[in-house]
Amino acid sequence: MATEEKYDQATQDSKLMIDHDYDGIKELDNPPPPWLMIIFYASIIWSVFYVFYYDVFGGPTQYDEYNTEMAEAIDNMPKSTFDEAHVTLLTDASSLAEGQKIYATKGCVACHGASNIGPDLTDKYWIHGNTIKDVFRTIKYGVPAKGMTPFKDQMTDKQIQEVASYVLVKLKGTNSGNTKGPQGDEY
Ligand code: HEC
Repeated sequence: MATEEKYDQATQDSKLMIDHDYDGIKELDNPPPPWLMIIFYASIIWSVFYVFYYDVFGGPTQYDEYNTEMAEAIDNMPKSTFDEAHVTLLTDASSLAEGQKIYATKGCVACHGASNIGPDLTDKYWIHGNTIKDVFRTIKYGVPAKGMTPFKDQMTDKQIQEVASYVLVKLKGTNSGNTKGPQGDEY
């Protein structure tokens, strides 16, 4: 204990004193702690990589990242179960009434009725199948080579579902005036 120097602020200061003097104002050489200097230099080095990556080599901007994330989010959203692979037959009165309206106004009756342009949709014979999925697909994508209009751009999937359900539930067994006779396979 006896050998230990007594702590004295003036002695400590004199060790750090810088050798200049402005009108009696003196300055101590008091460097920031090493951890702060490490962060400081590291951030300078980091900035070089940053500038090169984003400004020189065109790294993604915030807008790009936003758009990418939005696209991913849209991809991850539950897919519409409303397509030809999942469509179900509607049997409620209001859907069938909608379907009937569509059948009358979208030109279906013009081709599938007494004009005999398209096949009779009221009989048991089907060229392209008679499940709701088959009929939905035929109406949506049509059979352009054979004169059946694709309706995917003129109707929503819901409307196609309604008119397909109408054809299968209500139209079947009625007299459409079509005299083409059986076409396709009997179901
Ligand atoms: C321009 C005339 C035309 C119009 C309009 C038209 N169709 Fe057709 N449709 C056809 C023809 C022709 C075929 C036969 C295609 C074939 O031979 O492969 C057909 C086939 C079909 C079939 C398949 C029949 C089977 O035997 O498999 C369905 C179902 C059908 N149409 C429903 C409709 C509905 C519903 C509409 C109205 C939304 C409609 N079509 C409007 C001409 C038409």
